[in-house]
Amino acid sequence: MFVIEGGKPLNGRVRVSGAKNAALPIMAASIMADGPVTLRDVPDLVDVRTLADLLETLGVRSDRAVDGSLNLQVVDDSCIVADYELVRRMRASICVLGPLLARRRRAIVSLPGGCNIGDRPIDLHLKGLRALGVDIRVEHGYVIAEASRLRGTNIFLGGSFGSTVTGTCNVLAAAALAEGVTTIESAACEPEVADFGRFLNAMGARIEGLGTPFLRIEGVDQLSGAEHSIIPDRIEAATLLIAAAMTRGQVTVENVCPTHLSAVIEKLREIGVPLFIESQGEDATSLADIRVEPAERLTATVCSALAYPGLPTDVQAQFMSLLSLCEGNSVVTDKVFPDRFMHVPELVRLGAQIYREGPSAIVSGVVQLRGACVMASDLRASAALVLAGIAAKGHTVVRRIYHLDRGYDRLEERLNSLGANVRRVTDIVENVPDSLKLSHTTPSAAMFTSEPETISASFPTTGGDRRIRVDPPQSAGVEQPADSQIEKVDLSGTRPE
Ligand code: EPZ
Repeated sequence: MFVIEGGKPLNGRVRVSGAKNAALPIMAASIMADGPVTLRDVPDLVDVRTLADLLETLGVRSDRAVDGSLNLQVVDDSCIVADYELVRRMRASICVLGPLLARRRRAIVSLPGGCNIGDRPIDLHLKGLRALGVDIRVEHGYVIAEASRLRGTNIFLGGSFGSTVTGTCNVLAAAALAEGVTTIESAACEPEVADFGRFLNAMGARIEGLGTPFLRIEGVDQLSGAEHSIIPDRIEAATLLIAAAMTRGQVTVENVCPTHLSAVIEKLREIGVPLFIESQGEDATSLADIRVEPAERLTATVCSALAYPGLPTDVQAQFMSLLSLCEGNSVVTDKVFPDRFMHVPELVRLGAQIYREGPSAIVSGVVQLRGACVMASDLRASAALVLAGIAAKGHTVVRRIYHLDRGYDRLEERLNSLGANVRRVTDIVENVPDSLKLSHTTPSAAMFTSEPETISASFPTTGGDRRIRVDPPQSAGVEQPADSQIEKVDLSGTRPE
């Protein structure tokens, strides 16, 4: 678990790692290579190690070179079973299905099942592969698939929730080694899918239209080994930018592709975060640094998580933490994973005011979050809780941070290098700070003493937004901080609208 002492503004420079969600399918595509593969900027994460373990069982040997690059080489191409025991550790393991069918023409891959963010079906993966001529049945929890021939065709890959990222990669892989031309409509446009396609092209595939919803693939007979650098992780970059904004810090996030983050940058600016793109080259896709300055005022907004180029669902939770500290009422909707709200009750434990309604949540900004013990439910929810913890007053304990380690490379070390105080400790009650422990017999008297609280409210009758201090009925003994900016209002008999 993490023990966080919050409340300090972050300060300094931090570099973004390679993208997990690009690295995973690209590593899986090494199954298709007739030669060694070298990948640079593969992050050192639990999910990457899990996929390396799975690839090992599929006859692909991998090792890290001294310079950090990952080398992968097929040593046995007879293995076709992706076992449940490995796949259940990481549902992204389904990304081996397309490469296995493309190269070995047969695959038995455990169905990944759902997870805390939703049901996550793979019907679109199977639809696309069937269209290419793959014979598929699902038995005993396994996808059993065989393709005596793969034939190019036209495939529409859109579903009720838009395009599919991993599904597009699986169908792309199979189409790359199919006979003839395949077109994919409603393909996922995420930068990670485009990076996957660029890697296949580096191996000798012929794919056009990467980064657009319409892909054209001319099948080839074989693919060679290749070298490739993974794109920077736009979700990690966004997480760090939000961390800086929440603590009102001054942070430069290095190794970012700003065009991959357009929706995030736009939304942060709308909220009031001063954000500057530095040292970007001529090319729109070239890398840059992004500097965040402390915001004077953060204001509420409407956030809808959508497929790329929309605001990513993978930053919805982190944005919700930030919006908890923005003046006014925000609305957050997730149109990709409408049930991805496990972080809501945990953020509420930290003092956030959030009301969930179906695929949306209404977040009423508070002036301050206050430390508490919370539980991570999934990767991005963990990140949201850590951000809330570093911005909150006092101690926060985030349990089950193994979720975080799946997708962030030592996040606590990076945050600490910026001045945060996050300690990784064993999850035992002795490690919970005393300030978060309540004795059963002698509850702290301080718990019953309300502190004055500042809220933001809109007063249409008197005009405009005002910041007011609400003094609790019995606040005797509580020191009132002097603040000329804050107006003292007697609310008895009135209700802010
Ligand atoms: C990828 O998952 C990412 N994972 C996820 O990142 C990310 O949240 C997601 O894309 C959306 O951007 C990897 O890249 C390894 P989808 P994926 O297929 O490919 C529905 C993280 O935190 N759908 O694009 O599994 C699906 O239920 C993770 O790093 C179908 O209906 O997502 C969802 O509503 C978590 N049928 C939507 O489409 C299908 O066959 C998008 O899912 C496939 C998907």
